[in-house]
Amino acid sequence: MSKDHINATKKLAKLLHDNPKQKVIFLVGAGISTSCGIPDFRSPETGLYHNLSKLNLPYAEAVFDIDFFEEKPRPFYMLASELYPGKFKPSKFHLLLKLFQDQKRLQRIYTQNIDTLERQAGISQAYIIEAHGSFAENHCINCNKIYDMDIFKKHLDKYQKEPIDKNFARCRSCNGLIKPNIVFFGEDLPKRFFATWDSDLETMDDKETRPIVIVAGTSLTVYPFASLPTEVSKDTTRALINRELVGDFKASPRKTDIIIECNSDDAADIIAKELGWSKQLDDLIKEHDLLTTIPDVTDELESISKELDKLTIKEDDPKAGEEESSDENKKENKSNSSKENTQTEQKIPAKKDFSESKST
Ligand code: APR
Repeated sequence: MSKDHINATKKLAKLLHDNPKQKVIFLVGAGISTSCGIPDFRSPETGLYHNLSKLNLPYAEAVFDIDFFEEKPRPFYMLASELYPGKFKPSKFHLLLKLFQDQKRLQRIYTQNIDTLERQAGISQAYIIEAHGSFAENHCINCNKIYDMDIFKKHLDKYQKEPIDKNFARCRSCNGLIKPNIVFFGEDLPKRFFATWDSDLETMDDKETRPIVIVAGTSLTVYPFASLPTEVSKDTTRALINRELVGDFKASPRKTDIIIECNSDDAADIIAKELGWSKQLDDLIKEHDLLTTIPDVTDELESISKELDKLTIKEDDPKAGEEESSDENKKENKSNSSKENTQTEQKIPAKKDFSESKST
């Protein structure tokens, strides 16, 4: 961690220390879970989309595309069996979030993650907004009938043992596919996301209640989540804890922004130390029996790739003719989607219009 970023972390910690009444709103993404052994999506080489793009899907994000899922649920089933909650432990950064709750300094956590590690770290649901949903509930994508958690899990286990279409979870009323309430591209975010964000924005208007906003472990590329930092009031301090400079921090930096380019766990160590919470953090690490080394995920990624290899869309497949959306297309789609859709309730970015290829 560079000296500059150590100093920036200490500056953030000092701000927190000197303003004990100020709470914190966290906006987080997959980067805070990579040290738990869960690959993020877009990191070069290790990101899930890098591994998926090799497998000739129409485009990597298709695995979370509602139209694609309806057509070909198998890739999502493969990924879900690897990502399903319960196999991973919280990171040091998740435990720092828990400490903010314990020290009554936590206002909210907006997470894009579906790994439920914020809950597993012991943070109350009242503080957690799962912007992209979770596996906790399931519904029929046809008639919207709600199903509880274990119906999908039961079929997922069956599918893992015998990967045949008959084992997909289907609705008892209309035989539609049942899908976890994970927000796919093209689906609406939960209403609670918008309602809570609106009320949190209001707290930024008042000097007394104004929080600090800390963004961590996200590339800020998926809307409307990616627009949240731009909506933070100018008087509210924003901090970014991320391996790279991203989103509004790069596009429209503010003088008051605190930029910490490093691993989130390293920042967690310094913040806890500067706030005098190191002992509490150590106690949580012991309580969660956190591995000191990062679990090796190469086998997991290998098994995803192997399984997905079987699903590679063959050249002779009539749909295989669709042109790969090149990086330029994706960038262009992304910039369009970011302009047209910042106020959308739907989860957007670069989403090739799969319905076209569906009709080919
Ligand atoms: N510490 C800090 N930053 C990290 C770490 C780490 N240990 N590991 C990765 N990062 C950074 C990466 O450099 C990247 O900028 O975290 C960011 C992760 O970005 P993405 O992989 O795009 O993940 P995220 O932003 O959460 O993706 C958003 O995209 O496909 C959808 O639904 C999916 O919710 C997800 C959304």
